[in-house]
Amino acid sequence: MKFESDFSLKPYNTFGIDVKAKLFVRFDNVQELQDLLQRPEVKEEQKLILGGGSNVLFTKDYDGIVLQNGIKGMEVVQEDEKFAYVKAGGGEVWHNLVLFSLEHNLGGIENLSLIPGTVGAAPLQNIGAYGVELKDVFHQLEAVHLATGELHTFDAEACRFGYRESVFKHEAKGEYIVTAVILRLHKQHQLNTSYGAIKTTLEEMQVQQPTIHDVSAAVCHIRRSKLPDPAQIGNAGSFFKNPEIPTLLYDVLKEQYPDMPAYPVSEATVKVPAGWLIEQCGWKGKVVENYGVHKNQALVLVNYGGAKGENVVKLAYDIIQSVQEKFGITLHPEVNIL
Ligand code: EPU
Repeated sequence: MKFESDFSLKPYNTFGIDVKAKLFVRFDNVQELQDLLQRPEVKEEQKLILGGGSNVLFTKDYDGIVLQNGIKGMEVVQEDEKFAYVKAGGGEVWHNLVLFSLEHNLGGIENLSLIPGTVGAAPLQNIGAYGVELKDVFHQLEAVHLATGELHTFDAEACRFGYRESVFKHEAKGEYIVTAVILRLHKQHQLNTSYGAIKTTLEEMQVQQPTIHDVSAAVCHIRRSKLPDPAQIGNAGSFFKNPEIPTLLYDVLKEQYPDMPAYPVSEATVKVPAGWLIEQCGWKGKVVENYGVHKNQALVLVNYGGAKGENVVKLAYDIIQSVQEKFGITLHPEVNIL
């Protein structure tokens, strides 16, 4: 294991923000990680675990040690008539796991195609897209407890999944490194094509009886057309969460804004697309020097090159304020601001 000091994190965050870590080290298996955690120089430092760096916005240099998860490997570990249990290393690229599932003709994560980031980061925010969330296929995860070095197993209940939420963003924040995730994937496929854009895209592709491969292709097409590729334009996907508001407030707003979309969450609340709210406030496509709001999806903030994290944060807070003033709705960032 090689310790690097004063290490540039620019290639390690999809926003492409140029900050440095005091120390940086990568581990490739659980044993290496456990050995690392025993070392005094690691014990004393504050620690940051980086997966694909696709959900962070750095606003300053990191005064501690960055641990990069390099644990690879994907295999079917158990199967029965209906399901195959696939175990993947926390350092695997998420989309490679989607490709693995397609190659093995296993259904359940085709709607989650092309989500940036790693397998180990996926449960932290219960990644989701086009009507599917990780929790729908999640079986277990293995994670090393930073303070003791012990390997613990979490089932879905212990993970306390919610909309872009888990125990790892709350009570257990910063306490664990996810070393492996085990998914329960379907041998008999149950496609979820309820999302409008998927239906339309499959029609355009002239697919009558879609397979998991077709759904994945449709999702890739939609994402490529709406969301900027971090390899070209720095970004961290949705910057904000879609806010949940009382149905009563929605009914009032709907009188004033008849086009306002919403999805029911419960009898008392609905979820409103933050992208719509931000667009209504005139931010879509806004360019401020070398950063701004993406032209095809107002929920995504972008770095055109050389932007400072603190400037992007300032933009985020200006957006929050204008949505608050216009609609009385508070937006919350989905991205971790460090
Ligand atoms: N909309 C606008 N203007 C915009 C963006 C969206 O009016 O600039 C409207 C759309 O017309 C549509 C609605 O908002 O009526 C929903 O838009 P979209 O289908 O693009 O989804 P979203 O709610 O904006 C969420 C996730 C995405 C995920 C998509 C598809 C969150 C915070 N974001 O976005 O996740 O890909 O649904 O399922 O829940 C991510 O987390 O990084 C991410 C990209």
